[in-house]
Amino acid sequence: MTSLRIFCFVLCLISALQLYKAQNTQNNYPACTRRDGRQGHCIPTNECPRIYDAMIKARERRMDKATKTYIKNSHCPKRKKFYVCCEDLIQPNTTTINITTNTRRNKTTTTTTTTTTTPSPVLQLLDVEGCGSFGNVPQTINGYQVIVQSRPWMALLKFKTGDGREKFLCGGSLISSRYVLTAAHCINPLYELISVRLGEHTISTDRDCGFSKGRVTCALPVENFEIERVFKHENFSASHGLNDIALIKLKGHAETKSHIRPICLPITKAIQDKSESLREFRVTGWGKTETLASADTLQESIIRKVPRENCCRAFRRPSYNNLSIICAGDTLGDACNGDSGGPLSFLDYVKGKQRFVQYGIVSAGSNNCGRGLPGVYTNVGKFLSWIAEKMVEP
Ligand SMILES: *[C@@H]1O[C@H](CO)[C@@H](O)[C@H](O)[C@H]1NC(C)=O
Ligand SMILES: *[C@@H]1O[C@H](CO)[C@@H](O)[C@H](O)[C@H]1NC(C)=O
Ligand SMILES: *[C@@H]1O[C@H](CO)[C@@H](O)[C@H](O)[C@H]1NC(C)=O
Ligand SMILES: *[C@@H]1O[C@H](CO)[C@@H](O)[C@H](O)[C@H]1NC(C)=O
Ligand SMILES: *[C@@H]1O[C@H](CO)[C@@H](O)[C@H](O)[C@H]1NC(C)=O
Repeated sequence: MTSLRIFCFVLCLISALQLYKAQNTQNNYPACTRRDGRQGHCIPTNECPRIYDAMIKARERRMDKATKTYIKNSHCPKRKKFYVCCEDLIQPNTTTINITTNTRRNKTTTTTTTTTTTPSPVLQLLDVEGCGSFGNVPQTINGYQVIVQSRPWMALLKFKTGDGREKFLCGGSLISSRYVLTAAHCINPLYELISVRLGEHTISTDRDCGFSKGRVTCALPVENFEIERVFKHENFSASHGLNDIALIKLKGHAETKSHIRPICLPITKAIQDKSESLREFRVTGWGKTETLASADTLQESIIRKVPRENCCRAFRRPSYNNLSIICAGDTLGDACNGDSGGPLSFLDYVKGKQRFVQYGIVSAGSNNCGRGLPGVYTNVGKFLSWIAEKMVEP
């Protein structure tokens, strides 16, 4: 009987997925208490990644008992079709951002009482209200293609190689209208960075279209940006592999559009600290690395965090036993197509909305996942001051 009820509930949810229309403007959903006592918000099913992912599994008959119970506990108090009480993974808190920047402070001022944490000028550059929205169903079946326009912060870095050919060799993520985050190891003397592409989905096609809500929608054309300036972390070294982070300033602003939009950064201490407690992340990309073959269409996998010692062992680098990296990549997925420099993210509930937050940058070995080997990711939360300093440089 209960299983039948669950089945009906699941069916309703699945049909909801087909019927649901994107409601991007509806930010503030009512809070709810789930039947398991956890706090949540009553939101459309397809904006709740945990339940949405379970639905996908249900369709493939892969749902386990714990998941069934979890879904059963997800009714909204006031039954509402196609809505679930989605667990808050982080308590929405007043976002007090604590990025301390020393730049912009007048060297000539003699007062030492400048320790007040006034909102950093960086905050005005980051789009904390608009960031991380995916605007569409967060499709996450492992190793599968994502839906057109659903990861609008993904960037591709084009380089000129020694023989004069132009190639995409690394990825990145748009973090504001002007800046793209990537890995320091992507910036090296062997290749010349010539441009950054935003709004891409399938590289080989001019027009990227997708089938959703019963009709075909096409993304606007890609946009290519020239480079104004590149900041590579001063203490990056290929020998220890740490500080693998770089920031690219674009020539001109990338206007927010349906297929171009920044990802959120872990700007609060509470969100930063979650890099230690989260157990899964998403890695998204085309698999662009200096050496390996890659995918034509944007892919995503869910990967599990593993102890840092696993990365130390796999790469024979004791230096990786450091909070400034995240080690992840035990096989939940079949494949992993992270681009060097691309984002490691988590879909979270921040500022009243489900948003993608970037926790890591693909540093080493993301192409190994699915083969039992972990990958190394720069822990972005540990570099926010560095990012902030660079962003306020003229
Ligand atoms: C939210 O902010 C309040 C006051 O700043 C603090 O006491 C509380 O611990 C915060 N909650 C979380 C989850 O960070
Ligand atoms: C901001 O950082 C300073 C110094 O690290 C700390 O003393 C202060 O409590 C922080 N403020 C918040 C709101 O986290
Ligand atoms: C900073 O220094 C410049 C010149 O060095 C001066 O014109 C300006 O007023 C100073 N600003 C502050 C806030 O002290
Ligand atoms: C680089 O390392 C040096 C020496 O450890 C340190 O003084 C400096 O602050 C570091 N730079 C950055 C940007 O972390
Ligand atoms: C982690 O790496 C940073 C940057 O290279 C370094 O300054 C720090 O000492 C390292 N910490 C540990 C525990 O090794």
